[in-house]
Amino acid sequence: MIDYERIPAHVAIIMDGNGRWAEKRKLPRVMGHNAGMKAMKEIVRHAGEIGVEYLTVYAFSTENWKRSEEEVSGIFNLLIKYVDSELKELCDSNVKVSILGDWSGLSDKVKEKLQMTLDSTKNNTGLKFNIALNYGSRDEMVRAAKSIAEDAALGKITADDVDEKLFSKRLYTGQQEIPDPDLVIRTSGEIRLSNFLLWQLAYAEMVFTDTLWPDYTPEEFEKSIEIFQSRDRRFGGRK
Ligand code: FPP
Repeated sequence: MIDYERIPAHVAIIMDGNGRWAEKRKLPRVMGHNAGMKAMKEIVRHAGEIGVEYLTVYAFSTENWKRSEEEVSGIFNLLIKYVDSELKELCDSNVKVSILGDWSGLSDKVKEKLQMTLDSTKNNTGLKFNIALNYGSRDEMVRAAKSIAEDAALGKITADDVDEKLFSKRLYTGQQEIPDPDLVIRTSGEIRLSNFLLWQLAYAEMVFTDTLWPDYTPEEFEKSIEIFQSRDRRFGGRK
């Protein structure tokens, strides 16, 4: 049984397997993403209900541009559809949305929807729902290093000022005061991090499941949390 008193504060999810879910059904890949979006809606709702404070999902990586134009535009169209259909519910359920990643180069239409979502949820105090979009962990760290170098060149900081805290603050997560995840879940049987939150996941528990993302349900989400709760977290120390 899940212990509702010990829900992880921050859960990160690599929502993998949409393509295979569609291929198994002889459907176009974008239909898999559509089913994945529905699964995501359910998990967002459930995470808020059980008291997860931060939920971060990997929606589009800096490497995903290598996919076909059809698939890439399909994913962004889904994002627009998601905002159109869900923004009211997100507001009603007090969810605050943030974006991790460089979304400055996305289409005007996508940027407009994202800005609207951020603006209308910014004062919400419930679940913090972070969408990693055009996100890559190495890219994020290089940007942090650059901003530190710039400040050093301007004499605002010295090498001695650079520590883990300062570096963390310059990541997308740090800029938005999002703590490190306690638990990272990856679906579809792949056992890797794929350039997702490499710095922030230093001490996270990892849970992998063979379930393809569109088939991942709130029940299985609770199972993943149960596995998390059975782990012994020592953060490098001893008991
Ligand atoms: C990975 O599956 C999934 C993605 C690259 C996209 C994730 C997008 C969604 C869940 C829906 C859209 C939601 C938003 C907010 C845009 P994959 O395609 O790599 O699956 P495969 O490994 O089976 O090919």
